[in-house]
This record gives sequence, structure tokens and C-alpha cells, in this order.
Amino acid sequence: MSTHTEHQAPQGREPLDVNDPRLSRFEIMQEGARRDDIEIVHYEPQVVPGTKAERRLTRLVASMFLLTGLAATAFLVIYIWWPWKWEAGRGGDKYYTPLLGLTLGLALLGIGFGILTWGKKLLPKEVSIQDRHDQPGSPEDRKITGETMLFLADEMGVRRRPLLGISLLAGLAPVGAVAAAPLVGGLISNPHKNNQMFTTGFAPAEGKRIRLVREDGRPIRPADVSAGGQLTVFPGIEEGVSNKHADSPTLLIHLREDDAQASREANSRVGHGDYMWGNYAAFSKICTHAGCPASLYEQQTNRLLCPCHQSQFLITDNARPVFGPASRRLPQLPIEVDEEGFFVAKSDYTETIGPDFWERP
Ligand code: FES
Repeated sequence: MSTHTEHQAPQGREPLDVNDPRLSRFEIMQEGARRDDIEIVHYEPQVVPGTKAERRLTRLVASMFLLTGLAATAFLVIYIWWPWKWEAGRGGDKYYTPLLGLTLGLALLGIGFGILTWGKKLLPKEVSIQDRHDQPGSPEDRKITGETMLFLADEMGVRRRPLLGISLLAGLAPVGAVAAAPLVGGLISNPHKNNQMFTTGFAPAEGKRIRLVREDGRPIRPADVSAGGQLTVFPGIEEGVSNKHADSPTLLIHLREDDAQASREANSRVGHGDYMWGNYAAFSKICTHAGCPASLYEQQTNRLLCPCHQSQFLITDNARPVFGPASRRLPQLPIEVDEEGFFVAKSDYTETIGPDFWERP
């Protein structure tokens, strides 16, 4: 391996004709460094240009950049086409997030190791000594700086090693696309289209109100729930009792006369004046804290307890949280009785069910 130069620092600044064709780019760069009070005392290429070692290192760095490009492209393909929604019996959705993490990790590792290897193995070793100064640079100094940058570009070998430049471009372009993917993806696909988060099984289907049914699918008449009693009900639709409509379980409560009166007044205060039918009220069972089923109803106090973290909701005050970590009321389902005497939902819930999430209205 040849040593490019071992230099001694000259005394003082000498005039320099930067257009002199006899001056090499290195000499101009070196003079520029001196004018910035930087003395390059040792400058030595690590690999001899054109040797096997250089080609081997170039291929190694290029393969890392290409790995970056492949991994970033795989990220994009998975982000766009991999099935991410849960569907019974499929299971591929569970690999969606790990695959995104794996491909993005590989892309970042590839580019990190590629740049490190390039810098540590292919760039010349340099030892410089610098005194800092705060003066603005002259036009000549700026020209010298430009030549310095070009010299560095030459030394990095992009022109002489086009494979590195091409592979770096091939590796970085998909990484740029990866950075843009979530933004562009959000524009292409409407995240609220058919969004289950905002509807339950009680949403009227083809204009028809949905009945409240028991777990076995039987509809419910008012006489089926005695005063002070309660019943867990589901939407009377196909699969309304299944996990497909896991946000729909509702507690139908038959309040005693006094409690019903208090409840009606509380409902009116929050704009739910017509949500009850007679002395019957229906509230979502999905706790607004973390989504557990709030199902322990204490009929003497009219409190509904969630067993997970002990939140309590006062039914006669429009299911206001009165204890525990929950901070939002349980949504109320507007109910009435249809022509055949069975309970139906007047409409879907008018608030979003369950705990908070980022797009909750
Ligand atoms: S989920 Fe109900 S209190 Fe936490």
C-alpha cells in the first residue's frame, strides 16, 4: 500500500493560483485546509485503486446497499399487500407487524453497515491538526472549499467505483419510499371505510330497527325483566351474539319507579331524554376504561361495576363513572318496543363504544 503523502506544515500563507493546471486537486484541498489552519500531517489510502482488495470491499459495500433496497422494497410490498386484518382460520395477519419490523430493521442495518464499511475500509486514513478561527471565508477560500468537496467525492470513489453509487441509489430510493409509505398509504386507503369502530350490531339494517335478543337469540318483551332486574342483550342479527359483534353486548335494566325518574332526569341533562322506554334503560357493557365487560350490577345502589379495575358507573346518572379509572360514561342505547311487543334499538349507539383510541370523535 502506498503512502500518498507525509507533510510538514509550511510557515505562513502563500498565494495560490487555483486555476493552475499543474496543481492537483489534492494540493488545492491541502492548501485550503492550511488556510483554515488545518494541517494534514498524514494521508494514506487504505486500499490501492484497482486491486482485488478494493473490488472485494466495493462488492461488500454494494451488497449491503442492495440488501437495504431489497428489504425496503419488501417492506413496501408487505405494507401494501400483506393481509393485516384478522380473519378466522387464516393467521397470516399475525406476521404483518413482525415482518414490517424485520424488513425495516434489515434496511436500516444494511445502510448503516454499508456506510460504516465504506468509511472505515475504503476511504483514505487521514490525520489532521486544526486551529479553529471565526473569520468569514473569502471568495477564494470558498472556491477552495468547493474543490475540497469535489476532491472528497473523488476520494470516496463514486466516479471510479460506479457500482457503489448505483447500489447506494438503489438502496436509498426504496428507503425514501418507506418513509413516505404511511403518509401515502393513509391517503390511498380511507381508514374509516366500513370502520367497525364506529358502528355496532345495533345499527339499523336496510332501514329496519334491530331487536334486542338473549344469548340464545330469543327476542325480549318488557315483561321478561322484572323491576330491579337486568339482562344482557345482543343485536338480533346473524352472528349478533358472536365475537364478530364483540362491541355490542348491552345491559338492559328495568329500573324501579323512583330510580327510573332520576334516570330520566339525568338523561335529559345529556340530551338522551328519549333513550329510555318506560322504566327500561340500556347501556353498553364495554367498559370505557380498557374494554372489559362491566357486568356486576348492584340493584340497591344502581351501580354497575367493572371487575377489571373496579370502575363503577352510576346508572341513574346516565352511567357516569363514580369510582375507579374510567373517565367516560357508558354509552346509552336508545330503545323502544316494536309493534309485536319486543324491544328494539331506535338507532345504533350515538357514541363510540369502549375505551379511547386515537381517532375517537
Ligand atoms: S376495564 Fe373496566 S375498570 Fe378497567
